[in-house]
Amino acid sequence: MSARRVAILISGGGSNMAALVRSMTGDHPARPVVVLSNDPEAGGLARAREMGVATAAVDHRRFGDRAGFEAALQDALAPHMPDLLCLAGFMRILTPGFVTAWKGRLLNIHPSLLPLHPGLHTHARALAAGDVEHGCTVHEVTERLDHGPILGQARVPVLPGDTEASLAARVLEAEHRLYPTVLRRVAAGDRTPPCLA
Ligand code: GRF
Repeated sequence: MSARRVAILISGGGSNMAALVRSMTGDHPARPVVVLSNDPEAGGLARAREMGVATAAVDHRRFGDRAGFEAALQDALAPHMPDLLCLAGFMRILTPGFVTAWKGRLLNIHPSLLPLHPGLHTHARALAAGDVEHGCTVHEVTERLDHGPILGQARVPVLPGDTEASLAARVLEAEHRLYPTVLRRVAAGDRTPPCLA
């Protein structure tokens, strides 16, 4: 089988994107074909170019509605013919139309142990809830935000004295291990959840 073609959607620094790109070498069943951002200034775009990956930007502020933005997103993706889309710190909510078009081929990483703490400010919420462990989840994207089938989770301890920043840094390290592990398995056709410590 030829390599699965992976598009990565970002909005920011792109550290998860970089971890995914770095992983797709050698006998990996996938290759990165484009990194796309809704923010032309996203730091991850330069980072992707340095890693030799094509980039594109579709500035969501130029569109009056989500449907127009997503049509432009589809147009930007089309020439790269992706098989899989990985959301990696992509901070736009996608409409059911877009999600349906990519059903089963759209992954996201979320910085909590879903179903705990969907949405934003997950680290602050984990601290406020007194959680003793926290972590991250890779899941399939469905119409309901942060609720699709879970493909993998990585757990980290919440330590005495943790701040939102220290906890976020620990979770981000776990994200960089988890997302490449899950992508490799999904690209190879395996959707059984890996459970990483
Ligand atoms: C990650 O914590 C991701 O889970 C969240 O946003 C952050 C993105 O970081 N949704 P990066 O752009 O991959 O460095």
